[in-house]
Amino acid sequence: MSATTGTRVSVDEVAASAAGGTLRFLTCGSVDDGKSTLIGRLLHDRKLLPDDQVAALARDSARHGTAGKDLDFALLVDGLAAEREQGITIDVAWRFFATPARRFIVADCPGHEQYTRNMASGAANADLAVVLVDARAGILRQTRRHSFIAALMGIRHIVLAVNKIDLVDFDQTVFDEIRREYLAAVAGLEFATIQAIPLSARHGDNVAQTSARTPWYRGPSLIAHLESLDLSAPVDAGPFCLPVQYVNRPHADFRGYCGTIAAGQVRVGDRLMVAGGSLDATVSEVIAHGRTVDVAGRGDAVTLRIAEQRDISRGDVLCAADAPARTAEQFEAHLLWLSETPLFPGRSYLFKLGTRTIPGSISRLRHRVEIDSFESVPAERLGMNDVGMVAVALSTSVPLARFAESQDLGGFVVIDRLTNATIGVGMVREIATAAPAIVWHEMSIDKAARAALKGQRPAALWFTGLSGSGKSSIANLVERKLHAAGYHSFILDGDNVRHGLNRDLGFSEADRVENIRRAAEAARLMTEAGLIVLVSFISPYRSDRAAARERFEAGEFIEVFIDTPVEECIRRDPKGLYKRAIAGEIKNFTGVSAPYEAPEHPEIRLRTAEKSADALADDVIAHLRANGFIR
Ligand code: ADX
Repeated sequence: MSATTGTRVSVDEVAASAAGGTLRFLTCGSVDDGKSTLIGRLLHDRKLLPDDQVAALARDSARHGTAGKDLDFALLVDGLAAEREQGITIDVAWRFFATPARRFIVADCPGHEQYTRNMASGAANADLAVVLVDARAGILRQTRRHSFIAALMGIRHIVLAVNKIDLVDFDQTVFDEIRREYLAAVAGLEFATIQAIPLSARHGDNVAQTSARTPWYRGPSLIAHLESLDLSAPVDAGPFCLPVQYVNRPHADFRGYCGTIAAGQVRVGDRLMVAGGSLDATVSEVIAHGRTVDVAGRGDAVTLRIAEQRDISRGDVLCAADAPARTAEQFEAHLLWLSETPLFPGRSYLFKLGTRTIPGSISRLRHRVEIDSFESVPAERLGMNDVGMVAVALSTSVPLARFAESQDLGGFVVIDRLTNATIGVGMVREIATAAPAIVWHEMSIDKAARAALKGQRPAALWFTGLSGSGKSSIANLVERKLHAAGYHSFILDGDNVRHGLNRDLGFSEADRVENIRRAAEAARLMTEAGLIVLVSFISPYRSDRAAARERFEAGEFIEVFIDTPVEECIRRDPKGLYKRAIAGEIKNFTGVSAPYEAPEHPEIRLRTAEKSADALADDVIAHLRANGFIR
């Protein structure tokens, strides 16, 4: 047994340097199914543990173990996990070991409630999943969920480890029943192989050797199966494709494009092009493993040199000129949601696809996948650990492939714009056909012309704050002052817009996301018309305000925080709504039973407790004048 590691790079390096084949696998199942015991047993029986570790384990087992006089392997692996937690902040550790037949990389996913997230990170790039079930409990919800995630993430091989077979007296009928139920449950998931093995991780039956206590089982032991499984996939199938990770320019005479080949092969003389571009290029040298080679294929880390002078940068995808990768802005995907904050369609997120990170949104939630039956059920949002089918709309077109065809071009991660946390992982299922059918129409009278006629620079003054904080009153005063000075403006007010355009929306988080999205779109159209728009919505969520800001040109969006403490709003209570909210008559009331996320860096902060509304309105006018929106 050697070290654990925190980075994918070193995993890949070790895998690449292995002489024989490498099998990457992970174990999954519920917490008590014996994942650590199984790995510990496997390492021990294959004599892959150093003597001092076995001695330490014997000592610990006698002192803390739960296995009587036997070695308690759970202590071994859990001990390593604890060690790891002290220094390294990663979700999944990879552990390496080797037998004469093969090298193994096993993802060690800690088994607590965050398991699904860990499983999803561990599943990326694994060949096989060992799905553990307790013979006494049979197939559980968790078993189905993990199998589904494994399938989603492109794992092709499954070992169904029916553990604790000793506790059901090595009964063949129990094993057969679990196997039958599992095969029926995963029938639609398209695994290449499923090997069911009755075993006892604690006693070692069928782990490193086949057991005399299960004479009715004629299959291989776990390790024999892992050693002999045929991993050869259609390796070099498909046209060549290389996402450029890095452009290497050590000096003026050398320029190399580096990355890992996602599909196909490449040779000197091949004609390539950049996906979504038009120029083609000729390969003049292929460098792999530090030397020039004739040909390189899928999975190889390469540096390519190009004969022509071409402008190719990180994030571009080089592909065969006669079969370029598709580029698209919209696609349908399976999404596994990992955040405690639910997914709301319409909210803006960052999407990491290959080597690029770009803004986009989940425009539609088509359905949620019911984990017990794998059926599609209608849903308005996805909660933590839910899987759904979604439509994604990116802000720009990127090279894409279906996940089934390329894990590199078809897998993606969803990132929260504010916290930078990974909140979802997805797999492209369908790419929207060709160019969108709606084309942006260029008008001959443009925004600048309209604004010039009005003698002003368009702007969106985005007033945010609690109900009763004074947004509408101050916006109203600002507009009167603008009007009196001869400027053209318009007020979009939450209460008013909710009477018409947004009449169908309530106050759930999902509805507020959509409320703000529409308000921002309407405001943007008004800035196109050359107006100074005053938008007065509570807009309680930072991410929605951030997304609204992005709809505008730089400098055009001015966030005005009406900073009134909630106690003061409750005291004023102009519409009597706080009273009703506190009495429980109105649900999800901002400041009482729903959150308000105050702006961190608003362009303008108006403290209503310190100055009159009229003086604050003057401050806004002064800001517009100082920044050249008005004269
Ligand atoms: S937002 O949160 O989606 O931005 P918006 O500004 O459109 O809200 O509407 C807020 C107005 O709706 C409040 O000023 C108040 O008059 C009314 N209202 C009714 N129910 C609620 C509620 N549950 N939370 C907040 N405002 C509410």
